[in-house]
Amino acid sequence: MEKKLILDALAKVMDPNTGKDILSMHMVEALQIEGDSISFNLVLPNLNSEHKQAMNFACMEAVQQVYPNAAVHVHMLSQNPQATSEKESALSQVKNIICVASGKGGVGKSTVAVNLALGLKELGARVGLIDADVYGPSIPTMLGLQGQRPVIREVYGKAKIQPLMAYGLAVMSMGFIVDPEQAVVLRGPRLGGVITQFFKEVLWEPLDFLIVDLPPGTGDVQLSLVQTVPVTGAVMVTTPQDVALADALKAMNMFLLPSVNVPILGVVENMSWFTPAELPDNKYYLFGKDGGKKLVKESNSMLLGQIPIVQGIRESGDAGKPIVLTEGHPSRESFLEVARNVMRQTAIRNEMQAPTQIVDVN
Ligand SMILES: Nc1ncnc2c1ncn2[C@@H]1O[C@H](COP(=O)(O)OP(=O)(O)OP(=O)(O)O)[C@@H](O)[C@H]1O
Ligand SMILES: [Mg+2]
Repeated sequence: MEKKLILDALAKVMDPNTGKDILSMHMVEALQIEGDSISFNLVLPNLNSEHKQAMNFACMEAVQQVYPNAAVHVHMLSQNPQATSEKESALSQVKNIICVASGKGGVGKSTVAVNLALGLKELGARVGLIDADVYGPSIPTMLGLQGQRPVIREVYGKAKIQPLMAYGLAVMSMGFIVDPEQAVVLRGPRLGGVITQFFKEVLWEPLDFLIVDLPPGTGDVQLSLVQTVPVTGAVMVTTPQDVALADALKAMNMFLLPSVNVPILGVVENMSWFTPAELPDNKYYLFGKDGGKKLVKESNSMLLGQIPIVQGIRESGDAGKPIVLTEGHPSRESFLEVARNVMRQTAIRNEMQAPTQIVDVN
């Protein structure tokens, strides 16, 4: 029997979490052939995976298609022996989950989220984006994905959602499921169900960053999020004026509650100033000054960037091609700077602090 043929056969077995094959997910180890017997290790995120038996059978079946008389022994191993439940190992293929949050609406969270996600991608990271603003999803428009519907794939008898792709970014949004005009009034458990679905029933490939664009404030979505996945850190977006600041503080304090305990990676001050094209040396502080700095001080974090008001930022968002993708545009540099800082702050956070724990509902 040939190892190569066996590996080819195993490459047809799917990993239920990512929808990719178990070989490219590096889940097959220590393949050995002795006489009629074939054995290997199958490395799963945890040993209580509901798909354990189904995967065992799928492996045996795949090998027996090429070697019908082989005795196949699959040893199941846990990649993360401490994680005993499906919940603890949820999304183990995603290294960092970062939410973009604000107190007030309309301060530019979604704009920051898409440009940050694409900026991180530009820096070489593997990135996904979840539009968790189930009440007013704007990510589909900002990425030119309006009207598109994700493909549903059946994986071991369960329906899974294949995220849509835009500019190399894997994306999931409520806007892909319902038309944006249909206001979705979801509360409590049903809303929690949608958020859970976005994380656990979507085939996310291995990612360095999964960016989560939140609705404003401290509502049910924020609560569901921290109860569903371990959020690595939060990026706060604020405009410079004091009213935005008060609300931003409130939103930030929710993440810092001892029971929630999501670190603040830093602050993006948006709409910091306006510079007319004909007066390139002038800065007009339309929304006041220094709000970002004050929030940084309160959170003991850093200013990840200041983004001026630029017509092109709004236009590119409406046109479905975020400004960070436009070579040579000054705003591209502003957002790349934010992305570099987020990357650095995430690395520092992971070095200095223990992983975030999922908030226990009880
Ligand atoms: N720096 C900027 N310069 C110009 N326009 C901007 C800038 N930032 C955001 N905008 C525009 O402001 C509007 C609101 O931005 P965005 O949708 O990103 O805010 P939001 O905080 O996500 O809003 P919501 O709370 O409704 O989700 C959009 O039309 C966006 O294009
Ligand atoms: Mg938004």
